[in-house]
Parts: sequence; structure tokens; C-alpha cells
Amino acid sequence: MTFTPYDRPVRVAFVGLGRIYDLNVRAYAGNPDAEVVALVDPSPERRAQRHADWPDAQVFASTAELAASGLEVDAVEALLPIPLHVEGVIELLGNGWHVNLQKPMCNDLESAARMLDAARTCGRQLRVMENYLFYEPLRKLKATVESGTIGDVSGYHLKMVASGRGGWDVPMSSYEWQFQQIRRGRGILVFDDGWHKLATALWLFGPIREVRAWIGSTEVMAGIGIDAPTTIVWEHTNGIRGVWDITLASDMYLRSDYYTNDERWEITGRRGYARVNRCTGRGIQQPSLEVYVDGEMRSFHALDDDWASSFRDSGRHWLRWLHTGDGPLLWSGEEAVDVLRFALAAYASSAAGGVGVDPTSVG
Ligand SMILES: NC(=O)c1ccc[n+]([C@@H]2O[C@H](COP(=O)([O-])OP(=O)(O)OC[C@H]3O[C@@H](n4cnc5c(N)ncnc54)[C@H](O)[C@@H]3O)[C@@H](O)[C@H]2O)c1
Repeated sequence: MTFTPYDRPVRVAFVGLGRIYDLNVRAYAGNPDAEVVALVDPSPERRAQRHADWPDAQVFASTAELAASGLEVDAVEALLPIPLHVEGVIELLGNGWHVNLQKPMCNDLESAARMLDAARTCGRQLRVMENYLFYEPLRKLKATVESGTIGDVSGYHLKMVASGRGGWDVPMSSYEWQFQQIRRGRGILVFDDGWHKLATALWLFGPIREVRAWIGSTEVMAGIGIDAPTTIVWEHTNGIRGVWDITLASDMYLRSDYYTNDERWEITGRRGYARVNRCTGRGIQQPSLEVYVDGEMRSFHALDDDWASSFRDSGRHWLRWLHTGDGPLLWSGEEAVDVLRFALAAYASSAAGGVGVDPTSVG
């Protein structure tokens, strides 16, 4: 795709003004790279609430209304419920707007192909934003490993505990579309939140040649199962193996300003290890990154480890990209398909009893 960078502030529409708007918006506040010109949501309450942030923006109940208004828009921050991603993104691209889409991109490869085709046909950029790749402790973890501090990597471990108590309020309407996703076999922990963990694995160590998974389910209300306990293991093409365990702790209180998700990344090298102790929630209240080598532990006390900052920096990166065209996009639509393939390989493996599945072979 040929892309001409903007030499003026990018005119942006927010489409979807729900829970995650609160974090995505941080990239736009006080940012001279962008001008928020439109706010779109069918909910009058959400429109009124968010209009207070951008009194000069025009508000619309639908994308169709915005398109019909003739208002000039360059790019869209697409914060739609997952079941609306495919048709929603195709409509946005069709209006000639670049799209910064929230994850997960979509549920299957056929939908992904339709979205990429639309981007190609319309000559517009589709980005699937991955805020975790902008979380400073994870960036520092990657840099530490790449500097050779802990020696050659022997393997790594991701951990995630979803707790049922604490954190911010999530509207019941969000659970309704999450339940739709669950009924389609795309659970909250492995697929929705898990998308981030799979993305960090690809970002840290590159392509994956084999995935083995054992995806469980715990019924939390009639007909609704949460996809834990789950264990997923994989091997990158460079030979490094990763393992990720997902656990549900329904009654555990977790201090968090956002979702109640206790997460860790621990990379073991031949000489030492490096561990990120937390991300979304405040499970372990030690420094967010610790590096152990030769009997000494180094702790990083001054990283920006507020999870919300990763949204700010991911969004700013996108807005800068629109001005310069310099990559990487983190992620382009094509790269996001690799994350989708990783997830699909885990589902295929689990369904077949945990056999090894090559993500490039999933259909
Ligand atoms: N990066 C992350 O860590 C992270 C965290 C949470 C959610 N998300 C993603 O963000 C997206 C939105 O999630 P959320 O938690 O804000 O959901 P939400 O349910 O709180 O908000 C969705 C909003 O979209 C609006 N909407 C529905 N149909 C619409 C339409 N046709 N056009 C415009 N707006 C419409 C709803 O009225 C609602 O206000 C999802 O893709 C989700 O997976 C990402």
C-alpha cells in the first residue's frame, strides 16, 4: 500500500466510546499530532459523557451518520465490541479512513482475510493495536534479554491469574458481547485477554513452529464457562520454548486500577533470569522488573509501570506513524494474523488432545 504521511494534525474519529475509551484516549490528550473531530456511539449516555472531553468534536449515533455528514476524517480509533470488528472495520475502511483497531482482530482467518482485502482495496492502513508492546517494563525486559545480560535464553514462562474481585467496573453490556464470544468458542482469558500474551511471545522471540494446548473451562454461571484452567506451551522457530498458565481465582481480591489480572513474564537465560512482576493489576508490589545474574538481583524502581501508559504510548506511536510512515506498526493487520494463527493453533491442539500444531497449518 502506498501511504502519504500527513503534514498536519490527523483528524480522528472515536468509534465506540465504552470502557476502553478511557485508556485509548490518553494518546490524544494534549497531542498536537491529532485533532479529535468526531465521536460515534449508539448510546446517548456515552456520547454525552465523552463529548465533555472533546466539546469541539461532532457526535454521531452511527458510522453511517458520520459518513453522511461529510465531516473530513483521516483515521479512526475503532473501539467496537469484538463481534462487530469485521463488518465495522470494513465499513470504516470503505469510508476511506485509516483504522486503529482494538484486539482481538477477529475470530477466524476468513474474517481476517476480508478485513485485509478491504484495507488493500481501499488503500487504507489497518492497524491492530497492541498496547502490551508499549508497556515499559516489558520493553525493558526485551531490551535486557537482547543485550545478553542473562545469557542465551533457555526458556520462558507467562502466568496469568484472573481474579473475580477488585478493579474497575465493567458494564453489563460488555459482558453480553463477551458471552457471545464465549459461545463461539473464543473465551475471555485465552482469546480476548490472552491475545496480548500471545502477542508478547511473538514480539519477544519471533515466529512459532509448534503449539500444544490444554484449554479447560470453569462454569461461573449457567451456560457460561471461563476458559481456565488452561496451559499452553509452544516452541519458536529459533528453538526457544514458552509456557503460559492461566488460572481463575474467582474469590481472590486483586488490587487494580483496571481489570483484575495478575500477570508475570519470566525469561530464564543460561546466566540468570529477568521477570516482569505485574502489568494490568498490582498483584506483586515489588519493582515491576527484576533481573537476576550471578547471585545479584537488580530491581527497576522507576519504570512507568502504569498499564494505562501502554495505551498512551501505543496510540502516540500510531499517530506518529501517520505523520512519518516509519514502522513497525505494532501490529500491522498482517502481523495481527500471526497472533490469530497462534490462538487458532492452541484451539486446534486442545481439541485434538494436546497434539503439536503448526500455526501456519491452521485453516
Ligand atoms: N487492549 C486492551 O487491553 C483491551 C481491554 C479491554 C477491551 N479491549 C477491546 O476494546 C474493544 C471495546 O471494548 P470495551 O471494553 O470498551 O467495550 P464496551 O462494551 O465497554 O464498549 C463498546 C462501545 O461500543 C459501542 N457500540 C456498539 N455498537 C456500536 C456501533 N455499531 N458503532 C459505534 N459504537 C458502537 C457501545 O455502545 C459501547 O459504548 C474490544 O475490542 C475489546 O476487546 C481491549
